[in-house]
Amino acid sequence: GTRGRTIIVTNRLPVTANRKGVGQWEYNPSSGGLASALSGNSLSCYYCFVDVMCCDCEAFPIVRPFFLNCDATAITDTDIVWVGWPGASIPDKADREIVTTALAEMTYRPVFLDQELMDQYYSGFCNNILWPLFHYIGLPQDCRFKKSMDFKSQRQAYQTANQMFADVVCKIHKEGDTIWCHDYHLMLLPMLLKKSGIPMKVGWFLHTPFPSPEVYRTLPNRVQLLEALMEADLVGFQTYDHARHFVSACTGLLEFDSCPQGIECGERIVRVDAFPIGIDAGRFGRALELHEVQEKITEFKNLFSGRNVILGVDRLDMIKGFIQKVLAFEKFLEQNNGRIGKVVLLQIAVPTRSDVPEYRKLASQVHELVARVNGRFGTLKTTPILHLDQTLDFHTLCALYAVTDVALITSLRDGMNLVSYEYIACQESNKGVLILSEFAGAAQSLRTGAIIVNPWDIDEVAGAIELALNIPAVEREKRHKHNYEIVTTHTAQDWAQKFLRELNDTAIKAPIRS
Ligand code: UDP
Ligand code: G6P
Repeated sequence: GTRGRTIIVTNRLPVTANRKGVGQWEYNPSSGGLASALSGNSLSCYYCFVDVMCCDCEAFPIVRPFFLNCDATAITDTDIVWVGWPGASIPDKADREIVTTALAEMTYRPVFLDQELMDQYYSGFCNNILWPLFHYIGLPQDCRFKKSMDFKSQRQAYQTANQMFADVVCKIHKEGDTIWCHDYHLMLLPMLLKKSGIPMKVGWFLHTPFPSPEVYRTLPNRVQLLEALMEADLVGFQTYDHARHFVSACTGLLEFDSCPQGIECGERIVRVDAFPIGIDAGRFGRALELHEVQEKITEFKNLFSGRNVILGVDRLDMIKGFIQKVLAFEKFLEQNNGRIGKVVLLQIAVPTRSDVPEYRKLASQVHELVARVNGRFGTLKTTPILHLDQTLDFHTLCALYAVTDVALITSLRDGMNLVSYEYIACQESNKGVLILSEFAGAAQSLRTGAIIVNPWDIDEVAGAIELALNIPAVEREKRHKHNYEIVTTHTAQDWAQKFLRELNDTAIKAPIRS
C-alpha cells in the first residue's frame, strides 16, 4: 500500500535469543512490561497464530505485536518492523546471520551490541544511572556519578549504542514510515534520527516514571538528553504527573516555553501528553478458558487447599519493594498468629539485570529475609513464603493469577505496573483483592477498587493484608467490578492506537526541521 509502516524501536526485542548449540538458537519471550504491552508476550506459531508453539507446522515461533491481532486497526504484518537488541551477545558472524534470518521471519531487525558496550551502555548508563534516578532510588546521598571516569565512558557508550539503533532504523527506513522509539535506553534516538536528514515522523514513549525536575537535574548530561528529545514530534508518558515533570524539566533547563500542547521549540511544537498503558485483557480471558490452564487451576487449588494465597509477581528489582513486602508479611504473621500455616505468600521473582551489582545485592538481601521469616513462622508442614527466582510461562501465570486470593504490589516507584492489571483480568470468578502501592502508575486508575498502601509504612501494609483476607464477599465483588471495568476498557490496543494516531496528526501540524 501507499501508507507507511510503523517502525518500533526498543532496546530489547520481544523475543530473546538463546544459544542451544553450535549454530542453533532458540527464541523465548522477553520479560517485563514493555514487551507485554507491545506484544502478545507468548510464542505463537508464525503461520497459524495459535497462542502456543505449534508442533504441526514446525514454523518459527513468534511474538506478535498485539495490534496485529486487533481488528480495529487496519495494520497488517508488513506494516510493522521492530528494531531491537536480541537479548544476547552474539560476536560470531555466522551466528549473527542465523539470528538475523530467523528474526527477519518475525519482522524483527536485530541491533547487535557487543559485551563491552552492553556493560557500559545497558548495565551502566541505563540500569545503574537512569533507571535508579527515574525511580528515586538511592538519591541523593549515594551519588552514582562520583566515579566520573565510569560516568564518562558510560555516557559515551550510551551515545554509541543509540547511534547503532539509529543506523539500523535509517537503513531500513522507507518514505512515509513512522518511528516509535521506546523508553529510557533510547533518549538520544529522536535527535540522531532527525540528524540523518531523512524526513520522518518520530515519537518517543517513556515506560518508567519521569522524576521531579529537582531529582532529574542532578544528572550531569541532563541538557543533552532533553535536547535530543526535543527533536521528537510527540513525547508520551504513563501519567500526567510524569508529563508535567518533563515539561518543567524542559522549561527549567532549556530555554523553551511550555504551551497547552507541550513545549514551544522555536517554530515547532513538541507535543507532550500522557498515554497510560494497559493490557490485552481479552488474551487473559481466553487463556483461562483453555483446557490446559483449567487443569493447572485445579492442580493449584488442590495444592493450596485450606490456605489463603497472597501472590506477588515482580522482576527482582529494587523498585518493586521486595524488602518492604516481606517485612509487612512478617508483621502480619506476628499480629495474626491464628493465620500461621493458613496463609502463604507466593512470590515469583523474575530474574533480571543480574550483571548489575546492585541487583545481585538485592537478591541476596531478599533471600536472607525470606529465610528468616520462613525459619520463624514455618511449621513442619508449611512454609509461609514460597519464593521462586523464576520466569513463568504464560499459562502458569494466568492460572496463578486466577486462583490466588490477594495480589500484593509494593512498588516503591513504578511507571504503570501491568501485573496489577493482569491479576484483575484473571479474577472474574474469584474476585480477589488487589493491594497496590500508591507509587505505581496503576494506583491512579485502580484506586477505587484496590486497597492503596504506602509500601514504606510496614504497619499499613500488614493491616491491608489482614483487611484483604477479611473483606466480605459483597465488598470484594464491588471492588473487583470497578477494577475490571477499567482494565477491560483501557487496553494496550487503545494505548498504541492513541499514541500512533496522535503522532500522525502531530507530524502534519509540526513541520520537520531539515
Ligand atoms: N512476566 C513475565 N515473566 C514472568 C512473569 C511475569 O514476563 O515470569 C510479565 C508480566 O506478565 C507483566 C510483566 O512481566 O506483563 C511485568 O510488567 P510490569 O509493568 O508489572 O513491570 P516491569 O517488569 O515492566 O517493571
Ligand atoms: C521495564 C522497562 C523495559 C524493560 C523491562 C525489562 O519494563 O521499562 O524497557 O524491557 O523493564 O527489563 P530488561 O532490562 O530486562 O529489558
